[in-house]
Amino acid sequence: MPRVVLEGRGEFGEWRDAARALAAAGVPPEDVDWREKGSDADLFAAPDALPQLPSSGDRRQMTVPPAFIALAEAVICHSDPMRFVLLYRLLWRLQGDRTLLDVASDEDVARARMMEKSVRRDAHKMTAFVRFKEVGSGISLNGRRKFLAWFEPDHHIVARKAPFFQKRFNDMDWVIATPRGSAAWDGEKLTLSDTPCEKPDLTDPADQLWRTYYANIFNPARLKVKAMQAEMPKKYWKNLPEADLIPGMIAAAESKVLAMAAKQASEPLPFHDRLKQAARNVPATPKSPAGTLAALREEAAVCARCPLHQTATQTVFGEGPEDAQVMFVGEQPGDQEDLAGRPFVGPAGKVFDQIVGEAGIDRRSVYVTNAVKHFKYEPRGKRRIHQRPNMGEVTHCRWWLDLEVEMIKPRLIVAMGATALASLTDAKQKVSEVRGRAIPLSEGRTLFVTVHPSYLLRIPDERLKAEEMERFRGDMRQVRNLIGQV
Ligand code: URA
Repeated sequence: MPRVVLEGRGEFGEWRDAARALAAAGVPPEDVDWREKGSDADLFAAPDALPQLPSSGDRRQMTVPPAFIALAEAVICHSDPMRFVLLYRLLWRLQGDRTLLDVASDEDVARARMMEKSVRRDAHKMTAFVRFKEVGSGISLNGRRKFLAWFEPDHHIVARKAPFFQKRFNDMDWVIATPRGSAAWDGEKLTLSDTPCEKPDLTDPADQLWRTYYANIFNPARLKVKAMQAEMPKKYWKNLPEADLIPGMIAAAESKVLAMAAKQASEPLPFHDRLKQAARNVPATPKSPAGTLAALREEAAVCARCPLHQTATQTVFGEGPEDAQVMFVGEQPGDQEDLAGRPFVGPAGKVFDQIVGEAGIDRRSVYVTNAVKHFKYEPRGKRRIHQRPNMGEVTHCRWWLDLEVEMIKPRLIVAMGATALASLTDAKQKVSEVRGRAIPLSEGRTLFVTVHPSYLLRIPDERLKAEEMERFRGDMRQVRNLIGQV
């Protein structure tokens, strides 16, 4: 029985070369004794020479689907010594059944998938829990600061994850030491080593600062102990400076939440004051509002009536003919509108265009605008997540909407969603209470209320979504009929 001894440090190439030679020579899985160097089983075992690759004519042609390579590259990092034989068996079986990996109930496939998952999870934890500590004093000769981190992975993932850290922490020199080897980056070269490291002494004065910060950002009202423990299993705690604070914070969470609730009932939240202050700071209404729509658009482009202009890319003003009979009002520009500088060009705009078009209304003939002219969002990673504007922001921006109405003089205004409705009327009605009705406004105008197109996009249930789309279609047909009548 050929005995193959591998280093087994997560290096896919060494297993692949051995497997290729064995498979080409036709050695079945049950005839190979796979060992890991340094393991107990390896102590008295000398490796056999691998079979010579037969000449190309006699060689068994081994091919595998790309999914196997991805799976094997992960599984080979697992610490279970059985991974080599498992992968070789899968390789062997795949020659007779190319779809084997799709059979989730197959014992070998299920086992390999479990190992893959465990490796991916370990790699994810490494990105979450590696804590770099600065070593040496200040900036080194090459102008770069030096950092050291200690991590204890379950599997051989250091080489697999090192390129991530190289990319993320490219501008500093670092070493990540682990009992399963290390990775080091010096700005030019990524060096990997299999030699197990000893845990270094990494206590550092910044730890205390970090602990204070961590304790302060902890929000007891958001505590979900189960989710926290799943995301941050206890085995990682010993290397996290903040970890020993956690049990105390969990224990005190309930009484803190009660105290917060009691405080909220009697005292206004600090942001109420800030809002009141912001409202007082609204610049005085310009003495002579711009006389044309183009001039109004220019004024709005530098609007600073509320803080939203600070984070948005630009003002997204309304667009359409100056003598439009109908004005559609949405809530606020979304991510794509903010970048394009035009209303309703993103996903909600596509729904709007389609359904309005189907109802026989030409978008080019109507004026389309929003209650709020700047995109309000919360940054989350690289994404900007839409945030509904508050009443203060809607009120500030009403200045522009009122002037748009004054200049366009539409006969019919269509409010799409609650924000538009609130901005166009003082009444505090819900959309559902007034939807689909022609409501008289001052100066002979008519208001028609419907839902916002993005509401349709958010409905998860397909049947309900189709129903609501149909209802919106009906609303738009009513709008088309009203155009002739108002
Ligand atoms: N949602 C809106 O309310 N307006 C837009 O312009 C885009 C999405």
